[in-house]
Amino acid sequence: MTTDIFFKIHQDLPREGPGRDKYTRKAFKMLPKIDKPRILDIGCGPGGQTVELARLSQGEVIGIDTHQPYLDRLAKRIKEKGLSDRVQALNCSMFDMNFPNESFDIIWAEGSIYIIGFERGLREWHQLIKPRGFLVVHEMTWLRPNPPKEIYAYWKEFYAGIKTVPENLELIPHCGYQIIGHFTLPEDAWWIEYYNPLEKRIKKLRKQYIDDSEALTLLDNEQQEIDMYKKYYKWYGSVFFIMQKH
Ligand SMILES: C[S@@+](CC[C@H](N)C(=O)[O-])C[C@H]1O[C@@H](n2cnc3c(N)ncnc32)[C@H](O)[C@@H]1O
Repeated sequence: MTTDIFFKIHQDLPREGPGRDKYTRKAFKMLPKIDKPRILDIGCGPGGQTVELARLSQGEVIGIDTHQPYLDRLAKRIKEKGLSDRVQALNCSMFDMNFPNESFDIIWAEGSIYIIGFERGLREWHQLIKPRGFLVVHEMTWLRPNPPKEIYAYWKEFYAGIKTVPENLELIPHCGYQIIGHFTLPEDAWWIEYYNPLEKRIKKLRKQYIDDSEALTLLDNEQQEIDMYKKYYKWYGSVFFIMQKH
């Protein structure tokens, strides 16, 4: 039941986290030119950035995720864009990757490294990146110190590992990378392809599940995440970190 309503909430949303193609482009353009790079997109979701990376790089991209319906969306996008010869949608967990060491020029992860944790992700993915290759992620981060109690408690519950920008920047060299640059995703990256469509979907499903308390609780939780962002968007955000393996 919970799975069913979760699927209905998220089915066919443009993205599964904050982001827009123009910010994928901005981060990609901060990297030096690489001829037809091999890219691993971890936690690719429905694959918005996967397809954009393929277009930008003209290289080979493997998108991995564990939620098959998202991968099916990505597979459809790959087919529609005629990218089957160089883009793959693979059901594989970030906890169980069997790629050979040093096999990717770039590892990319938009809004997904929190699942393994920022520091652990940086350390474990290091071996998969070619010498002097790149790691690009965006990660939920405090934008100001001393956040108000309500939002502090909320993120402590849902992502206890959330850090400030200086804390993340300090960690990066200890994990084997140098920082090329970083920038915070602007508010439109949260609304246009993520929270606006999600909020519309929640409203619609609320009517459909009016007598189903379990479904309504799940819908409330999703709405709460959006309401928190409305109230506290100045305090946290997702920050792109563009790194090079040293
Ligand atoms: C916040 S979403 C981001 C999706 C996508 N990058 C985007 O920006 O639209 C996080 C993604 O990580 C995926 N995920 C969850 N656990 C995972 C795991 N163990 N391995 C790989 N992906 C996972 C989820 O299914 C989801 O698609």
